[in-house]
Amino acid sequence: EKERTLGIIKPDGLSGNYTDRIRKVILESGFHINKEMIIQLDEVNAADFYAEHSSKSFFTSLIKYMTSGPVLVMILEKEDAVAHWRHLIGPTDAGKAKITHPQSIRAMCGVDLEKNCVHGSDSHQSAQREIAFFFKETPPDEAVRKH
Ligand code: CMP
Repeated sequence: EKERTLGIIKPDGLSGNYTDRIRKVILESGFHINKEMIIQLDEVNAADFYAEHSSKSFFTSLIKYMTSGPVLVMILEKEDAVAHWRHLIGPTDAGKAKITHPQSIRAMCGVDLEKNCVHGSDSHQSAQREIAFFFKETPPDEAVRKH
């Protein structure tokens, strides 16, 4: 069954002009890019998006990184999208990915544990929350007309 996940090209990925190469990998891997937009996060929405990490030592640095420039957010669709996208991006630590997963997206464009250039939802539930966070569905015309 088709599943959706949220992918983000983080500020370093976008400013480093990796977008076309990443998009190529995405499409060649059989994903459909359902929706996408470029957005500049502010501290409030970045902290909200990463709320589960709010008590971590790296939180302040993470928020600074994620608000340092625009990001590209994408809804990616295919069978088992969450697991496949996680596999494609590789391990969180992009420095390690260059050694252990040289074909991964993080090996291609990431730098280290923090500056890892892309994000992927870690579960089906996270994907649903994260997609709703960025893409509020507008009601279909039918629903609006019904009264
Ligand atoms: P991601 O897994 O997409 O979402 C959480 C982000 O926090 C992660 O990518 C990294 O960018 C960052 N991160 C995770 N762990 C650490 C860490 N130990 N130190 C610094 N940044 C981290």
